[in-house]
Amino acid sequence: MALWVTACGVLLCCSLSGVEGIGVNYGMIADNLPSPEKVIALYRASNITDVRLFHPDTTVLDALRGSGLGVVLGTLNEDLARLASDASFAASWVQKYVQPFAGAVRLRYINAGNEVIPGDNASSVLPAMKNLESALRAAGLSVPVTTAVATSVLGSSFPPSEGAFSEAALPTVAPIVSFLASSGTPMLVNVYPYFAYSADPSSVPLDYALQSPSASAAVTDGGVAYTNMFDAILDAVHAALEKAGGQGLGVVVSETGWPSGGGGAGASVENAASYSNNLVRHVGHGTPRRPGKAVETYIFAMFNENRKPEGVEQHFGLFQPDMSEVYHVDFSAASS
Ligand SMILES: *[C@@H]1O[C@H](CO)[C@@H](O)[C@H](O)[C@H]1NC(C)=O
Ligand SMILES: *[C@@H]1O[C@H](CO)[C@@H](O)[C@H](O)[C@H]1NC(C)=O
Repeated sequence: MALWVTACGVLLCCSLSGVEGIGVNYGMIADNLPSPEKVIALYRASNITDVRLFHPDTTVLDALRGSGLGVVLGTLNEDLARLASDASFAASWVQKYVQPFAGAVRLRYINAGNEVIPGDNASSVLPAMKNLESALRAAGLSVPVTTAVATSVLGSSFPPSEGAFSEAALPTVAPIVSFLASSGTPMLVNVYPYFAYSADPSSVPLDYALQSPSASAAVTDGGVAYTNMFDAILDAVHAALEKAGGQGLGVVVSETGWPSGGGGAGASVENAASYSNNLVRHVGHGTPRRPGKAVETYIFAMFNENRKPEGVEQHFGLFQPDMSEVYHVDFSAASS
C-alpha cells in the first residue's frame, strides 16, 4: 500500500509539472536588478520551475509566496560558524526565514554553506546542518538540510570511476555523507565544464564540454563511453560518494552554466545558448553511472551581475538586468 501511494505520488508530480528541478540560481551581486516581484514573475513566465537563493532575504521569500516555485535556500557562509556553535542562533534563523513562509513557499532544501570545503570554515558545516535540522524539527517543519560543494572536493576525477574525495576534503565530507545518507538527503554540487574547457581549450573538445548531442565519445571508462563532460564530472562525484559510504546518495547540481562573454576561451552567446539548452534536454536522462535517474539541476544564473569580478564572472546570466534575454532557453523542453 505504501509503495502504491509513493508510486502514485511520483506519477502525479511528473505528469503535472514535468521533471522537477530545472532551476536557476538567483544571484544578486549587482546594483541594477529588478524588484524581487518582477524577478519571480520572470521565472514563471520563462517556465523555470525552481530557484536557488544564495542567502535568505525576507523580501525575496515574500515574493515567492504562492509562486509554486521550488526553492533552495542557502545560508551565508559568514553565518556558518555561529549556526554551528549557537543552537539558539540556528533557531532564530529558522524562525525568521523558514517558519513565516512554511506552507506558502515550497522549500526543497536548505544548504548550510556554499563551497566552503575544504577551507577555514569547513568544520562548521556539519554542526551547522545539525543545528538547523534540530531547529526545524523543534518548529515542526521538515525541510532537508544539506550543503553545496565545489568539485574541488575531488582529489581524483578521471576517469569518472576513479572519482574520490581529496585527502583535504575527506575528513569533513565523510561524516557529512553519513549524515545525509541517514536521511536520504542529496548532496549539492556545483559543476562547471566551462572552467575545465577554458583552462585547456586545445585539449578539451568544445562539443564534449557543451554537451552537444552529436559529440563523439571523448572518454571511455570501463566500457562506458562519455560524450559529455557534465556526465563525466557528475559520475566522478557519484564514484567518490560510493567510496565514502554514500552508496546511492542523491546528487543535486546546484550550479552549472556557461558565460556568454567576458573574454574567456569559448565564452560566447552561441556557446552559452548551446550549453544551457543541451543541459535542459539532457539532465532528465541521468548519467551512465545512474541511467534514467533525472538530475535535478540549477543553472547559474538568472542575471548578468555587474558587481562580480570582471571577466566571464559577470556574464553567466540568462537575462540582462533590464529583463531582456541574453539568449533563449526553452525550459519547457525539460519535460519531454
Ligand atoms: C512556456 O511553456 C509553454 C507551454 O509549453 C509554451 O507555450 C511557452 O511558449 C513557454 N514560454 C517560454 C517563454 O518559453
Ligand atoms: C569563515 O567564517 C568567518 C567567521 O564567521 C567569516 O568571517 C569568513 O568570511 C568565513 N570565510 C569564508 C571563506 O566564507
